[in-house]
Amino acid sequence: MANARRPVIAGNWKMFKTTHEATTFVESLWQKVQSLNSAELPDIVICPPFTALASVQTCIAKLGAPFLVAAQTMESRDNGAYTGEISPLMLADLGIQWVVLGHSERRQYFNETDETVAQKTVAALKHGITPIVCVGEQLMERENGLTDAVIEQQVRAVLTQISAADLPSIVIAYEPVWAIGTGKVCEAPEANRVCALIRHFVSEYGDAKQTRVLYGGSVKADNTQALMGQSDIDGGLVGGASLEAESFVGIIKQACLVKA
Ligand code: PGA
Repeated sequence: MANARRPVIAGNWKMFKTTHEATTFVESLWQKVQSLNSAELPDIVICPPFTALASVQTCIAKLGAPFLVAAQTMESRDNGAYTGEISPLMLADLGIQWVVLGHSERRQYFNETDETVAQKTVAALKHGITPIVCVGEQLMERENGLTDAVIEQQVRAVLTQISAADLPSIVIAYEPVWAIGTGKVCEAPEANRVCALIRHFVSEYGDAKQTRVLYGGSVKADNTQALMGQSDIDGGLVGGASLEAESFVGIIKQACLVKA
């Protein structure tokens, strides 16, 4: 084993799948995953849209599948006059264990900032929900040599707001924006360099050895081994390739091979 951190493969469905499609996917995924060696399985996290969270949760419980469920975002406050928002209290009430925070699409289209992402991270931890905090540079930033500075700012914004005791409970996903949904994957050594840099920043706030750092951006079965074989990449946050059970299980299989 490359390290003691349990690998994570998370499938972010974004704004796709009705409840029926969601439960059909879960049943099909479970059928395929059962043939794999359970001792080698990564944490498998499914991130459905809000409307499918409850039915996916119920379906997983019925099957007895070892899948974790994540919301794709949430509000930081527990309740209040915030029309349309979903709170951590509500997610915890459904038994949702994980949440994706600060995805670049949330930052780009829904005005999420480093500050709100930090507030949401604190709120998730308060409710025992594992946050997957997404960070990543835009293409222009990379071309201007700003990658490391952007990552540092995004990561520190969160790290300054949480305690050292919470470091093992947070997951950070390095998702270069130019690699999301483009088919342009960040080369594994460079993705690893940035993930190691993230771990270095974490280490300034406490023990970083247990914090899982994922890579996201055009992860497919055929690049999973190269990425996850790296020292500081503990898994993948998968968008497009998580929409079909066949392609998602392909990634899970590759992850089992690497970290076995
Ligand atoms: P992608 O999306 O795998 O389709 O590039 C990744 C993400 O948005 O998390």
